[in-house]
Amino acid sequence: MSYAIVYSSRTGNTQLLAQALRDALPADECVYFGAPSAQALQADTVYAGFWTDKGTCDEAAGEFLRSLHGKRVFLFGTAGFGGAPSYFEGILERVRTLLAKDVTVIGSYMCQGKMPQPVRDRYEAMEESPHRTSMLENFDRALSHPDADDLARLKAAVTK
Ligand SMILES: Cc1cc2nc3c(=O)[nH]c(=O)nc-3n(C[C@H](O)[C@H](O)[C@H](O)COP(=O)(O)O)c2cc1C
Repeated sequence: MSYAIVYSSRTGNTQLLAQALRDALPADECVYFGAPSAQALQADTVYAGFWTDKGTCDEAAGEFLRSLHGKRVFLFGTAGFGGAPSYFEGILERVRTLLAKDVTVIGSYMCQGKMPQPVRDRYEAMEESPHRTSMLENFDRALSHPDADDLARLKAAVTK
């Protein structure tokens, strides 16, 4: 069955996931790999990747997801905050609301993705507080992600 891998990635984290998917799936069935584009609509199955912006998918991914009809869709994404699976679940729930009723979600996967240094600089400039400490700790935890385990879990999620 034909598939496309479509992803939106501003700083490269979600692109790493997209590349891992490309490595895991049969190359001869791939009709499109790249940024959101109508070319992807030739595929029966769409692996759709996003980065998290204000608690949901970024605008480019959202626009693409809203354009899908009658497809099987696997959602994947990265977010700066991690730790609690319920956080990822909340994001995925909001993203799923963008999909038309005739779209079938065949699976989903999210992991943490590192954020740019100016974000840490902003936290550092905040007044000392438990909130500041937890933001700094989260930032530092995110630095190594997506890591090899994140990519292996994604591959396992699509090949099971
Ligand atoms: C403008 C902006 C808004 C963001 N908003 C969120 C957010 O609401 N929640 C979150 O967990 N991460 C947020 N992030 C972090 C990114 O989602 C995260 O670093 C992601 O891995 C970036 O993916 P990319 O490298 O594929 O662009 C935000 C990043 C930017 C630049």
